[in-house]
Amino acid sequence: MRELANINGRISSIQDAVIPAEDRGYLFGDGVYEVVRTYNSRIWALDRHWHRFRRSLEEIQLDIDNLEEIHSWILETYQESQIPNATLYYQLTRGVGPRSHVWTEDLKPTFFMSVRRFEEREYVGGVKVHSFPDQRWGRCDIKSLNLLPNVLVKQQARKLGGYEALLVNDQGHVTEGSSSAIMAIANDTIVVPPRSPSILPSITREFVREIALEINLTFQERWLSLAEFGTVSEAFLAGTGDEIMGITHLNGKVIGTGKVGVHTQNILRRYRERINQQQD
Ligand code: PDD
Repeated sequence: MRELANINGRISSIQDAVIPAEDRGYLFGDGVYEVVRTYNSRIWALDRHWHRFRRSLEEIQLDIDNLEEIHSWILETYQESQIPNATLYYQLTRGVGPRSHVWTEDLKPTFFMSVRRFEEREYVGGVKVHSFPDQRWGRCDIKSLNLLPNVLVKQQARKLGGYEALLVNDQGHVTEGSSSAIMAIANDTIVVPPRSPSILPSITREFVREIALEINLTFQERWLSLAEFGTVSEAFLAGTGDEIMGITHLNGKVIGTGKVGVHTQNILRRYRERINQQQD
């Protein structure tokens, strides 16, 4: 087992993976990324992540002529690592060039990928969240490298003893977590924010939508205010790293019973079953 990196097709140790300082990813955050999990030596939901990655590339007009090759680098690097339960991170930036906001068409995009062991973290008892103003840009549906607002609020949430930061936009609506989707359950209905440019189309959220159908929970897209969010019977985070994680407290106040809700536990169990049965 070996943690590995890949830069433009070249596999190395992560420490030896070096990118030129004038890469536009470093200078401008000019690129997009994905985070993928592997379970028992199999990459989970890669097709869905790949599809979203391609969309992100299109949205930032990053044209790639060797996408198939990049896909094969991902498989090859993971296979070589031989880590059964890993986190794969991959990103593409617009490439290396003299710093100028305007890019030229001759740039060669830079691919970077890392394979790391997944750090097991069990939050069986649920997590606490704290709310913050959502100060991100207007295209959060693109998985862009620019994560400064996300980084700042998550750090703040941790300082307050919470696990995740809950983002609230100018209209007073809860959008998502700093690195997770957010969901509430009230009256046997899972309520999620409508798909829009202000949230990431989360892949885990799609799995929850499919699971909801199986267990007769309504899946409803509508905006929730922060006040309403505080009154729901259950709430949880959903994401590639976090899977399904019950929320017990919002800004120091109990949500529901203050324990991970029964629907949330059921959804997590079914999500894990799908992973075991390789149903992605
Ligand atoms: N984050 N919303 C945001 C802002 C995210 O960054 C993420 C994922 C999600 C959940 O999406 P998915 O279910 O497709 O993982 C929602 C990744 C894990 C990260 O940036 O580390």
